Amino acid sequence: MSSVFDANEQQVEKNQIINWDGFTKSGILWQVYCGDSFEVLRRLPDESVNCVVTSPPYYCLRDYKVEGQIGLEDSVEDYVEAICKVMDEVRRVLRSDGTLFFNLGDTYYSGKGQSQGNDRKSNKRRFGLRAVDKSGGLGIGLQRKSIIGVPWRVAIEMASRDWVLRSPIIWHREKCLPESVLDRPRRSYEYIFMFVKSRKYYFNREPLVDQKVEEDLWTIQARPKVTNGIDTAPYPDELVQRCLDIGCPEGGVVLDPFAGSGTTLRVALNSNRPAIGIDLSREFCKFMVKEIRGI
Ligand SMILES: C[S@@+](CC[C@H](N)C(=O)[O-])C[C@H]1O[C@@H](n2cnc3c(N)ncnc32)[C@H](O)[C@@H]1O
Repeated sequence: MSSVFDANEQQVEKNQIINWDGFTKSGILWQVYCGDSFEVLRRLPDESVNCVVTSPPYYCLRDYKVEGQIGLEDSVEDYVEAICKVMDEVRRVLRSDGTLFFNLGDTYYSGKGQSQGNDRKSNKRRFGLRAVDKSGGLGIGLQRKSIIGVPWRVAIEMASRDWVLRSPIIWHREKCLPESVLDRPRRSYEYIFMFVKSRKYYFNREPLVDQKVEEDLWTIQARPKVTNGIDTAPYPDELVQRCLDIGCPEGGVVLDPFAGSGTTLRVALNSNRPAIGIDLSREFCKFMVKEIRGI
């Protein structure tokens, strides 16, 4: 096991995978891989994971400043293909009775051209001309100001690649930062698509019934913007917990192929489930490992 600080950044070559592993104080195994998720997943065994909870990079929303990142493709088709290529491998490593909870937000096509100066809203956003700012309808005939429908485009493509789309869950992002638009309703929800591989799979409906929450409409407070010095656009612990409560047996192995700050791993390990995380950003992996070592 390598120390989180001993990887010499200068010597790490393209496509190299660095990994860390260990056990929590109560003896639960964790593994963190720093590398491209497709490349890492390719090396994991078939049907070895019970539950996947993940939120991939959204289309044209952030620049994570790492070579090989998904999210800044020139076309929506290329983005959908990049995500689905990873999800094909996720499907292979998922057990036949496993579940996948996939959170993805949408993006608007602005077509407004070159942005003027820095974007004050977030320094993680790509300055200059993003694909969604270029004229030409993104090659799919969109009019300016149109929402792209990214989550459904991905979900439909995944369904055509043998995933069973079992439930589109609405995550009502309570108290999220309001968008600064005046000519349409401000958005307050995102999708969590529940996918499975086969007709029989692990599912425990009781937590949904017991908590008297709407079964496919989850009101969960969004995470405050930057909480911990790194900004991965993290989702809330409660969201992951709910996915695991209904979709992962006790002690089942949990995977997040876009782990960011490690929310999925933390919640899984705290509920005594072994966890595997993958992220391309060395900065995020180091953060994640440091956090997990405290569990
Ligand atoms: C929306 S964030 C995930 C945030 C995470 N759910 C959390 O709670 O912190 C998406 C992550 O995907 C990572 N990423 C982007 N392209 C990747 C790739 N090709 N392989 C692996 N990770 C990638 C980014 O570094 C980022 O951390």
